[in-house]
Amino acid sequence: MASSFQKLTSACFVVLLIFVVCALTATNLRNNQVSLSRKLKTEDSQSFNNSTIAIRREGVELNEHAVADPDQVALLQTNEQNITERRKLGFFSCGNGNVIDDCWRCDPNWHMNRKRLADCGMGFGSNATGGRDGRFYVVTDPTDEDMEFPKSGTLRHAVIQVEPLWIIFKRDMVITLKQELIMNSYKTIDARGANVHVANGACITIQGITHVIVHGLHIHDCIRTGNAMVRSSPSHYGMRSMSDGDAVSIYASSHIWIDHNSLSKCADGLVDVVMGSTAVTISNNHLTHHNEVMLLGNNDLYTQDKNMKVTIAYNHFGEGLRQRMPRCRHGYFHVVNNDYTHWEMYAIGGSANPTIKSQGNRYAAPKNRYAKQVTKRVRTEKSEWKKWNWRSEGDMLVNGAFFIQSGEGATANYESASSLAAKPASMVGSITSTAGALGCRSGKPCY
Ligand SMILES: *[C@@H]1O[C@H](CO)[C@@H](O)[C@H](O)[C@H]1NC(C)=O
Ligand SMILES: *[C@@H]1O[C@H](CO)[C@@H](O)[C@H](O)[C@H]1NC(C)=O
Ligand SMILES: *[C@@H]1O[C@H](CO)[C@@H](O)[C@H](O)[C@H]1NC(C)=O
Ligand SMILES: *[C@@H]1O[C@H](CO)[C@@H](O)[C@H](O)[C@H]1NC(C)=O
Repeated sequence: MASSFQKLTSACFVVLLIFVVCALTATNLRNNQVSLSRKLKTEDSQSFNNSTIAIRREGVELNEHAVADPDQVALLQTNEQNITERRKLGFFSCGNGNVIDDCWRCDPNWHMNRKRLADCGMGFGSNATGGRDGRFYVVTDPTDEDMEFPKSGTLRHAVIQVEPLWIIFKRDMVITLKQELIMNSYKTIDARGANVHVANGACITIQGITHVIVHGLHIHDCIRTGNAMVRSSPSHYGMRSMSDGDAVSIYASSHIWIDHNSLSKCADGLVDVVMGSTAVTISNNHLTHHNEVMLLGNNDLYTQDKNMKVTIAYNHFGEGLRQRMPRCRHGYFHVVNNDYTHWEMYAIGGSANPTIKSQGNRYAAPKNRYAKQVTKRVRTEKSEWKKWNWRSEGDMLVNGAFFIQSGEGATANYESASSLAAKPASMVGSITSTAGALGCRSGKPCY
């Protein structure tokens, strides 16, 4: 007891001291960090396989990162709090009906409590822990020069590690990835407090892994890349074939939460969930300027997707979108309290007998009188699709929008497609008013 208390005290003292130094000599600090990261780089190139172990042994990374951000203080404090209890009280309620955000967003000390976010997820992806049980990793370097041996301090170096990591950003940056960012399990990318764009290059690939949270990024202008060697973990790299060019591609993965990102203008989908993925929540995102927005299941014949469960909640489907919000196959899809202000062709579509529960959304149809239907059954005869369970419950249909329901409405099916309690559609404008990446500043609620 005594010794752990001592450790705590001395850790606090070190952090405090570093803060003082930080405040007094910002320039010196910068120089220190340059030399620290040089040291890391050398270690990495000597023995990449052992870099994580080496870093932990030396404590180099930890110190550098403690200097770079107050989160190390948060790490010590989080243990003292009863998150479950406080969440139940809706302690930080923002008063706009968004029960996911109520759990953290209006806490002015959100930056001291970053990992609380991992306990705030709802819907089918709510058990995604991300990097909650790991250390913080501060991304300091926006470059992506070496895909086989990523440099320490880059986003790519962070996401490939085996250990759980809560990844944050030292400052605003634009990261143009040369190849897909192949993530490893148990990672949170938390861009709160910085304006971080993953743009004009490859984007994020979540493949064959579990427990990932992606929060607060601007992801746009993603292009197709591939036919290159890319590292996916400290011990493995391999040849990637051409990618589709999705902003976020979720492939054979589970327990994934994509929250509060601003997504637009990519070569293929904005968020695609395919090949046996399940337990996914896509919430609070602002999606704009894109054709094929969300594909949930990519093949009518891929019956493993019958287990797919995805929650689409509190998103704003905005300007310049055409179709697939989402387009579903096989599984169970809960589309709840989203704001649809723009579509050119349709909003909700699908094939291969997906179960879709649309609840408490606001669907505002476009002017085009041939595009008023919310729903679209893709290349299927009515005799067939009339059996599919697609139900609209409490949706607000605006500007002539209409939702064609189907199926017997078997209760058991809709139970399987229920993942969080819907609010009245009249609240959707308020709930989604802060969709997309937030402007978060230390000491203030995030807006
Ligand atoms: C990793 O580090 C350990 C201890 O430092 C060493 O014994 C081992 O040989 C290293 N392994 C590799 C693959 O370099
Ligand atoms: C946290 O709150 C829950 C619910 O009230 C309670 O059961 C639990 O004992 C509390 N844990 C701690 C460590 O206080
Ligand atoms: C989350 O985990 C709990 C405990 O293991 C489980 O009971 C629950 O069904 C899970 N929720 C989802 C949505 O997977
Ligand atoms: C890591 O270690 C494995 C097995 O020891 C080896 O096959 C691989 O080439 C190593 N990778 C690097 C980058 O050193």
